[in-house]
Amino acid sequence: MSLELFLLFLLSWFRVDFARAINGTEILPGCQPKCGNVTVPYPFGIGAKCSIDTWANINCNTTFNPPKPFIGDYEVVQFSQTEVRIKNFVAVSCYNQSGNLTDQVFASMSLVGTPYTFSSTKNIVTVLGCDTMVLTRGSNTLNYSSGCISICDTKENVIDGTCSGIGCCETSIPKGLQEFYALVGTIYYHTKVWSFDSCGYAFLGEQNMYSFKVSDFTNSSHLTDIPLVLNYAVGNQTCKQAKQNSTAFACKDNSYCYDSVDHTGYLCSCNEGYEGNPYLKQGCQDVNECNNNPCKEICTNTQGGYACSCPDDSYGDGTKNGTGCTKRNKKIPLIQLTLGFGFGFLFLLVGGSWLYLSIKKRKLIQLKEKFFQKNGGLLLKQQMSSHEGGVESTKIFTAEELKLATNNYDNRRILGQGGSGTVYKGILPDLRMVAIKKSKIVDESQLGQFINEVVILTQINHRNVVKLLGCCLETEVPLLVYEFVSHGTLSHHLRKTSGGMSSLSWKDRLRIGAETAGALSYLHSAASIPIIHRDVKSANILLDDNDTAKVADFGASRLNPLDETQISTLVQGTMGYLDPEYFHTGQLTEKSDVYSFGVVLAELLTGEKPLCFERSIEQRNLATHFIVSMKENRLFELLEAGIVNEGKTEQVHAVAELAKRCLNSKAKKDLQ
Ligand SMILES: *[C@@H]1O[C@H](CO)[C@@H](O)[C@H](O)[C@H]1NC(C)=O
Ligand SMILES: *[C@@H]1O[C@H](CO)[C@@H](O)[C@H](O)[C@H]1NC(C)=O
Ligand SMILES: *[C@@H]1O[C@H](CO)[C@@H](O)[C@H](O)[C@H]1NC(C)=O
Ligand SMILES: *[C@@H]1O[C@H](CO)[C@@H](O)[C@H](O)[C@H]1NC(C)=O
Ligand SMILES: *[C@@H]1O[C@H](CO)[C@@H](O)[C@H](O)[C@H]1NC(C)=O
Ligand SMILES: *[C@@H]1O[C@H](CO)[C@@H](O)[C@H](O)[C@H]1NC(C)=O
Ligand SMILES: *[C@@H]1O[C@H](CO)[C@@H](O)[C@H](O)[C@H]1NC(C)=O
Ligand SMILES: *[C@@H]1O[C@H](CO)[C@@H](O)[C@H](O)[C@H]1NC(C)=O
Ligand SMILES: *[C@@H]1O[C@H](CO)[C@@H](O)[C@H](O)[C@H]1NC(C)=O
Ligand SMILES: *[C@@H]1O[C@H](CO)[C@@H](O)[C@H](O)[C@H]1NC(C)=O
Repeated sequence: MSLELFLLFLLSWFRVDFARAINGTEILPGCQPKCGNVTVPYPFGIGAKCSIDTWANINCNTTFNPPKPFIGDYEVVQFSQTEVRIKNFVAVSCYNQSGNLTDQVFASMSLVGTPYTFSSTKNIVTVLGCDTMVLTRGSNTLNYSSGCISICDTKENVIDGTCSGIGCCETSIPKGLQEFYALVGTIYYHTKVWSFDSCGYAFLGEQNMYSFKVSDFTNSSHLTDIPLVLNYAVGNQTCKQAKQNSTAFACKDNSYCYDSVDHTGYLCSCNEGYEGNPYLKQGCQDVNECNNNPCKEICTNTQGGYACSCPDDSYGDGTKNGTGCTKRNKKIPLIQLTLGFGFGFLFLLVGGSWLYLSIKKRKLIQLKEKFFQKNGGLLLKQQMSSHEGGVESTKIFTAEELKLATNNYDNRRILGQGGSGTVYKGILPDLRMVAIKKSKIVDESQLGQFINEVVILTQINHRNVVKLLGCCLETEVPLLVYEFVSHGTLSHHLRKTSGGMSSLSWKDRLRIGAETAGALSYLHSAASIPIIHRDVKSANILLDDNDTAKVADFGASRLNPLDETQISTLVQGTMGYLDPEYFHTGQLTEKSDVYSFGVVLAELLTGEKPLCFERSIEQRNLATHFIVSMKENRLFELLEAGIVNEGKTEQVHAVAELAKRCLNSKAKKDLQ
């Protein structure tokens, strides 16, 4: 035999030997793979030469049948690459009917001097019994004591399945624990519960492996079947220190090292793409990923990974979640033909849609113009030019601007809905908040009313009148843009009571009344052309951040040229606020507004609705009820509770007197 041949033979022999070591058994050559039913993988072993160190040398006691493996005094149930499971110890104390101790076992375990620790994440102390008090003690780097108590009266109180504190309690252990003692005590010596529970138990064992049962009080033999998990670490150095001596370093080929969290020392694990035993030479073997077919077509296994590829007649990265493999098409003329057709079609499509869009755009412009005219745009322009002054401040908005401002008339932006339209909250490009009223009107007869509001409001500049910022006429229904008044309507605040009290104080009410009166007085006598509001009511008085009143909704208002003292109109207004004189005669004067204001004052005083069908017939109309009460000197029965306490009596009287004068059915006197 030549030398080369001999070497080859030697090499092949070693290879076979390693392969045998790797296959399933995970042991050093010549060592016993199992003790009884339990496999013992390296770094553990049976015998000094078969294990990595003395702590990992397993005592396989053959006096048992089958033989049982032991670490020190502890019987091992299972070995794994990161932990060891041993049989646990159950601490017991039992008592006879007269309360004398008949049997007692302590649990006492110590791993001091070994690299084993009780796993704090996987183990828990479980205590059983209805008159049980358990003290546990242990040490890691510090000594500690803990425990738990379980007391219950009857068997019926105890619930199977959950360790909830009745008949069973749990307590966790600290990290890195190496010593554990448990002593089971009692408070009433089990005399009260002896009929169903004569013993108390405690054990440290794997969490979630035990399901509590009341029957365990009397039959506790299977409690020792709950395993106890031990962590371990190799050596007494960190990875960094251990790597410096490569002959003693435990982590072998294709593996990595990590430090133990519980104890000084380190552990090994196979690299990604490898599996096996990291503590053995060539223990970590490449995983053949191609067995699970991770590729679309061709899979090539590599050391620690795999590669996908495509057959010659296709292209792509060959992976399943990547581009895969696509067949190359060799009939190039057909491709060109298809491309030609494709581009031609595309051209037609683009040209066609451009034409269609431009026609549609022109139609849209025409439609907008039509709406503008229909919505009285020309009328408005004419009106604006005839009333120079405030007009400059009124802006004509485009439909797009307002669509953007209201987030395409988003329902969540609706501030209120009334007879004349819907009010949306809008945000303009300069981040100004506005209220946008989308009118309901679609028939042309009401159009005048709409233009009316625009024209009237452009005349007015008063701090207690809501400001019109502009309008939009390009849409099917006209849109009005107002300043945003944040705090809602007066009527809302009057009805909004908390604990029977409205949110408005007497001082606020007095001020709101005065501000409203100021606005009306301005409309009637200080505006360039007198204006009659015609729909004064608490729902048309808005309140801003500081609860300053702002009169709104001029849809029904009329300009009242100075030379005409009375105008005949169609009677218009809100029931409950309507001046009876105007209602009967149809003659509109400023005094109709004064009457309505009187009703608002009565509302401010009483907090009642002006018309309420839930009240008796004589009290139904607030105005009449108010007047009658004043005549009969019963005013204070009607007032809102808070006002009587808060307001000065003479102030309340003065306001009530004013309201009475406003509500006078014969229009002799005015506000001033
Ligand atoms: C590994 O061992 C099992 C039985 O223990 C055997 O069937 C299998 O062929 C072995 N594989 C190799 C690669 O030796
Ligand atoms: C352990 O081994 C014995 C025979 O050696 C067998 O009868 C028994 O079923 C085994 N138990 C387990 C849990 O594998
Ligand atoms: C095996 O276990 C038996 C019973 O517990 C004990 O008496 C004996 O000393 C043990 N043998 C060894 C070698 O530990
Ligand atoms: C309980 O044990 C004590 C002491 O051993 C004994 O004196 C007593 O008679 C026992 N009681 C019962 C009811 O067995
Ligand atoms: C144990 O039994 C004795 C009588 O045998 C009694 O005097 C004593 O109080 C009992 N001890 C307890 C703790 O109940
Ligand atoms: C823990 O208690 C034991 C016994 O009482 C004592 O010997 C040891 O020094 C204590 N260890 C620490 C860290 O306090
Ligand atoms: C005790 O419990 C075990 C398992 O839960 C059961 O197999 C056994 O029969 C029980 N023994 C008695 C006396 O109830
Ligand atoms: C580390 O372990 C080795 C043997 O395993 C021992 O000789 C040495 O004293 C230990 N060092 C420390 C700091 O525990
Ligand atoms: C490395 O470890 C081996 C085996 O434990 C030992 O014999 C040797 O002296 C160590 N070398 C150094 C440099 O510490
Ligand atoms: C495909 O998916 C797997 C797992 O979902 C991922 O690990 C791999 O990186 C992916 N490959 C590509 C090319 O995206």
